[in-house]
Amino acid sequence: MNKTVFIAGASSGIGKSLAELYASSGANLQIASRNVDELNSIATELKSKYKISVEVYRIDVSNYQSIQDLSKQLIQVPDIVICSIGYLGIDTRDFLNVSEIHQIFATNAEGSIGLINVFAALFKKSGKGIIVGISSIAGDRGKSKNLFYSSAKAAFTSYLDGLRNELYHHNVHVITVKPGYVDTPMTKGLSLPSSLIISSERAALLIKKAIDHKRNIVYVPSKWRFVIWVINSLPEYFYKKINWK
Ligand SMILES: NC(=O)c1ccc[n+]([C@@H]2O[C@H](COP(=O)([O-])OP(=O)(O)OC[C@H]3O[C@@H](n4cnc5c(N)ncnc54)[C@H](OP(=O)(O)O)[C@@H]3O)[C@@H](O)[C@H]2O)c1
Repeated sequence: MNKTVFIAGASSGIGKSLAELYASSGANLQIASRNVDELNSIATELKSKYKISVEVYRIDVSNYQSIQDLSKQLIQVPDIVICSIGYLGIDTRDFLNVSEIHQIFATNAEGSIGLINVFAALFKKSGKGIIVGISSIAGDRGKSKNLFYSSAKAAFTSYLDGLRNELYHHNVHVITVKPGYVDTPMTKGLSLPSSLIISSERAALLIKKAIDHKRNIVYVPSKWRFVIWVINSLPEYFYKKINWK
């Protein structure tokens, strides 16, 4: 594979596993996040293991200037861009932690959208490219646990729906990925049903397969499509009484 893949959020979890998987298939990489030390160490390892090129970009998507700078720094336009950035945040159900709520939206919604917009503009101009947004099952129906994270992911999912519609007419494909529970630093310490958790390597494999097949919306793993269908079918008078994690 001679493609170049830009992966935002490659310093950890699903993004890091995607970087390894694409590197192993021969793709050249552009990896980005805030933790440049970690990105540099990943780049050194992948370059020596797979003889590919890896460019490192420092971005903080909660800072608008950082997103603007990226468009100037980008050495070449990639073939595929994957946004695997996410921030679960701490429990904000006292409703008063304004800065934390802001960070959750700035990272999962505005920031991720702003980052993808950089590539949407480039891809629209060139009439090719694949955009992959990693959203979440949490964005499919608002829930009390992770209230603001799930609302920010709902915004991100809705943005990806509209973007797919817009860019379809410019030969650019947009994929929405909705993972269930994945074993990463984000879910460390959470009490989740072990039978529903998958590794980040498995998630990366399923995501790459969805990209290879140019899917539109993919649940990772696919059984979540049924689970979410059931959850979305619950009448509100009942749904409001349950407390799903
Ligand atoms: N794990 C799950 O169960 C699960 C379930 C559903 C959806 N997801 C979604 O899957 C994606 C990957 O999550 P993960 O589980 O792999 O989490 P993770 O291990 O915590 O990785 C999150 C990534 O986001 C980057 N990031 C966070 N804030 C950033 C910012 N302001 N600017 C730039 N980069 C930032 C982090 O890099 P730095 O710290 O280096 O900046 C890190 O690389 C996210 O979109 C997440 O919401 C995960």
